[in-house]
Amino acid sequence: MLSDPTLADHHRDHLRTLLARYQGALTQEGIGGVVIYAGAPQDHFLDDTAASWKPNPHFSLFAPLPDAAGSAVLIPASGAPELLHLQADDFWHAPPRSPEGPWLDVLPATLVMSERARDQLIAAWAARCAGPTVALGPGHPDPTALRHRVDFARAEKTPYELVCLRAANLRAVRGHRAVAEGFRAEDSEFELHLRYLAATGHEDHELPYTNIIGLNERGAILHYHHRTRDRGPSRSLLIDAGASAGGYAADITRTYAREAGVFQDLITAMDALQQGIVARLAPGVPWASLQDATMEALADVLIESGIARGSKAALLEAGVPERFMPHGLGHLLGIQVHDAGGQLANAEGDLTPPPANHPALRLTRTLTPEMVVTVEPGLYFIPSFLRTLRAGRERELLNWPLIETLTPFGGIRIEDNVRITPEGPENLTRDAFAGAPAP
Ligand code: GLY
Ligand code: MN
Ligand code: MN
Repeated sequence: MLSDPTLADHHRDHLRTLLARYQGALTQEGIGGVVIYAGAPQDHFLDDTAASWKPNPHFSLFAPLPDAAGSAVLIPASGAPELLHLQADDFWHAPPRSPEGPWLDVLPATLVMSERARDQLIAAWAARCAGPTVALGPGHPDPTALRHRVDFARAEKTPYELVCLRAANLRAVRGHRAVAEGFRAEDSEFELHLRYLAATGHEDHELPYTNIIGLNERGAILHYHHRTRDRGPSRSLLIDAGASAGGYAADITRTYAREAGVFQDLITAMDALQQGIVARLAPGVPWASLQDATMEALADVLIESGIARGSKAALLEAGVPERFMPHGLGHLLGIQVHDAGGQLANAEGDLTPPPANHPALRLTRTLTPEMVVTVEPGLYFIPSFLRTLRAGRERELLNWPLIETLTPFGGIRIEDNVRITPEGPENLTRDAFAGAPAP
């Protein structure tokens, strides 16, 4: 991917944009410079092995490195940035691969052989900065005002980031296709996961988040991370699985039924609902209004499918759709799967909390061009919520025999990654499934 000369230009431009954002924020906060530490893996308690690890996302935004542990990026309020790449002399492990690529023209790298050498260079650099410096990374006091400024800005993706996000979608779609085939072959959840890794070429720890692969009623467990090994005929599959390109995440969900019938009809209805919401994405639209629109459309699906008997107004008044979709419509997407800054009202760090009836909403901003968001409506048969509904006044609004028929199928979620533009939404995920050339 990085050998394409146009991409190299995009990458350098991306780094210049980032640098301008961070330096603008430093100047506004009266800070002389920031050390962005990648961090390092932590060993398990009383053990000498570590869990899988991801660098500080602020580090990864600047330096897309597979071997980042212990490294740091130095950004003075004015002047050139620098990457200190730690390559400790360690015969137990493979040495870190050295950074390479045209992006180093903008972010020159210095190799350091020890943490001590790194810290000496940082101290000398800080002494040259025009003003006090701060650190941004694990184990350091959070420079919150500075972080809010750069997090607010990063919601709008650069052309380089869009190339990465499209590539991540193409990669994830390869995995999704392989898993759809595995579902037809009656694979276990564990086997489906292995198919996904093979098709995307990812190791488990390289995925942007742990795969959610739930057969049957396990599709109703929103963050289902187990993988049963039971093979054999299954009714339904919910797969929420991403992929990574240049460090950027795809976040895609699809739901399948083995046979035609009422659950497949619900999947078709939810797919139409999802595309209806995607069509409304435009600059100036408050995200919370789309959450409300989703609840209205979900009430329609509940009524038209025969799951609910009451009027739409009665269902909405009683908060019934929220019991079938207890999560937010979506979130910002980028170097992190739940990208930062979704509830920031402005660069100064004022927050817009989620509305009381949608406490799980991660995104409360108004859409602007070049934001990339997920759109992921769902409809689940979650036993604990169903018990609550059945015990309350809402009982009369629902068709319990049909709900009992559908509960063994788990649930439905359809999730795409979408770029906001004034000309209309760009659906990165549907384009990837369709094999469309990038714009
Ligand atoms: N895969 C996590 C999410 O959809 O937000
Ligand atoms: Mn997802
Ligand atoms: Mn998501």
